[in-house]
Amino acid sequence: MDAITFLTNDHKVVRAMLEELAATTKRAVKRRTELLQKIAAELEAHTQIEEEIFYPAFKEAGEKSDDDKMFFEAMEEHRTAGDLVLPDLLQTEVGSDQFSGRAKVLKELIDHHAKEEEKEMFPRARKLLGKAELNELGERLAARKAELI
Ligand SMILES: [Fe+2]
Ligand SMILES: [Fe+2]
Repeated sequence: MDAITFLTNDHKVVRAMLEELAATTKRAVKRRTELLQKIAAELEAHTQIEEEIFYPAFKEAGEKSDDDKMFFEAMEEHRTAGDLVLPDLLQTEVGSDQFSGRAKVLKELIDHHAKEEEKEMFPRARKLLGKAELNELGERLAARKAELI
């Protein structure tokens, strides 16, 4: 599977779980807890493999300042979601109203980020990286994710 298909499939899985989480009520403590654990594991693995494998390949292949900008903006969005919003949510009482609000913010952040990757960075990566390299990156992403999860 090529890298872009692999990462896009990851997005679908995590976005569906975030959608479900954001729709839960504060009474759904057990479901919230389960979903949150899965989302955290998926998001952490996904951002890590992108930062270790895909983003460096994209940056290396980049030709224009717009490519660099895309890279740095994506890194900042990972930082916001992974270092600030997700850890905050993990510390929040699952049966609280704060949790509902924070889950929604994380969902919106990830929706925005995944859309930018899929609409801007990935199409650009298809132009910059050849088919063979995208396939090879896809294999490395899958192998690294299997190690992490
Ligand atoms: Fe990302
Ligand atoms: Fe992604």
